[in-house]
Amino acid sequence: MKVTMIGSGYVGLVSGACFAEFGAHVTCLDVDSRKISELKAGKVPIYEPGLENLVRENTSKKQLEFTDCYGDFIGDSDLVFIAVGTPSRHGDGHADLTYVYKAARELAKYLRDYTVIVDKSTVPVGTAKNVKRIIATENPEADFDVASNPEFLREGAALSDFMRPDRVVIGVESERAATLLRELYRPLNLIETPIITTGLESAELIKYASNAFLATKISFINEMSMLCEAVGADVHAVAKGMGLDGRIGRKFLHVGPGYGGSCFPKDTKALVRIAQENGTPSRIVESVIEVNEAQKARMINKIRSALGGSESGKKLAVLGLTFKPETDDMRDAPALTILPKLLDNGALIRAHDPKGVREAKILLPESIQYFEDIYTTMEKVDAVIILTEWNTYRGLDLVRIRENMQGRVFLDLRNIYEPERMRELGFEYHCIGRH
Ligand code: UGA
Repeated sequence: MKVTMIGSGYVGLVSGACFAEFGAHVTCLDVDSRKISELKAGKVPIYEPGLENLVRENTSKKQLEFTDCYGDFIGDSDLVFIAVGTPSRHGDGHADLTYVYKAARELAKYLRDYTVIVDKSTVPVGTAKNVKRIIATENPEADFDVASNPEFLREGAALSDFMRPDRVVIGVESERAATLLRELYRPLNLIETPIITTGLESAELIKYASNAFLATKISFINEMSMLCEAVGADVHAVAKGMGLDGRIGRKFLHVGPGYGGSCFPKDTKALVRIAQENGTPSRIVESVIEVNEAQKARMINKIRSALGGSESGKKLAVLGLTFKPETDDMRDAPALTILPKLLDNGALIRAHDPKGVREAKILLPESIQYFEDIYTTMEKVDAVIILTEWNTYRGLDLVRIRENMQGRVFLDLRNIYEPERMRELGFEYHCIGRH
């Protein structure tokens, strides 16, 4: 089976490499020639555990190729995936479909025999039908179907999510297209992965509804954490007690400084727009977004009050800048909201992150000082703030930190340490939703 993957970002590259591993012959296409030359040389421009190896192995087996030219492989492909970016459009929260439609126009010219064009990017309901119209207009002779095959990959765990998914969703208009897509995913039959076939609109909505629901769980528990603080309850106990009910489930009930990343913030906003435009406003998702913004603001207040009412002139060590561990992605990371506010109010910030510093230097104010060594970051500071729960922050030498700090404040905004133990060690320990 021959596959072209248009877009070699997170989604396109992971999906392309995994389909190649499944046995398809895959060509990853990207208009960014520099990225393509790097990939041809075996260099993966993003950090995703296991991806570089998978790309190298499949490139050397010739299962995976790269090109920056639409004319090269599309005519021979059985399936062409569109996996280009759909950022939030400035101002209105809409997903920006410029790149998706551009890809559709470009690829249309090169179609030869029957081909299935599959949307893998997260796109608003109705996009697959628009792609169909664009291709039919550009190339009235083309023999093709469109399909929607949303991805459910978490950054940092994308390979295992692809190889062992909870489900695969295939939105189609024809049995012929469904058969080709099922054939592509056939290796997953071995592990009995449910493959559900729906119409185009349902598949498109499943993706947004899933992300919005997960974001809802996070905002819900973040809101509950405030109540826990007010009444003296422990949010971990509450989450566990709720989550053991199989109808609720334990996952995605971890408190934090607010969800971030390239997906939840953008997709919740897009869903709100889609719902408004269709005359069925989603008040729940609107509130989820509000609660998330409020959570970030609440973290700033928490830090301020832990510092005795003002961060001005205080030296802070911030551990973790990316929106979550095991990624170098800084998009919509809570750090981008929280740190500039602290700096504006006169704090001095020393920061550490295992993978995110390169991006952080571009996106955060210049006055932040970065350190490679975790312990140097915390030397002589008034307070330590854990913003992202990287594994290396879970087993810190706390005695050493306590001795080398100037102050005693430790703000654990991912609740990775035990309050009692931290206080025994002499820290003024603050976390979320527990005392
Ligand atoms: C998310 C979904 O989990 C994937 O299923 C989906 O495919 C992907 O978006 C996408 O649309 O492409 P991702 O953004 O990589 O994946 O990361 P998550 O692990 O879902 O975390 C998102 C944010 O929620 C992070 O900021 C994380 O710290 C936060 N989070 C997550 C919490 O605060 N609490 C939790 O319990 C879980």
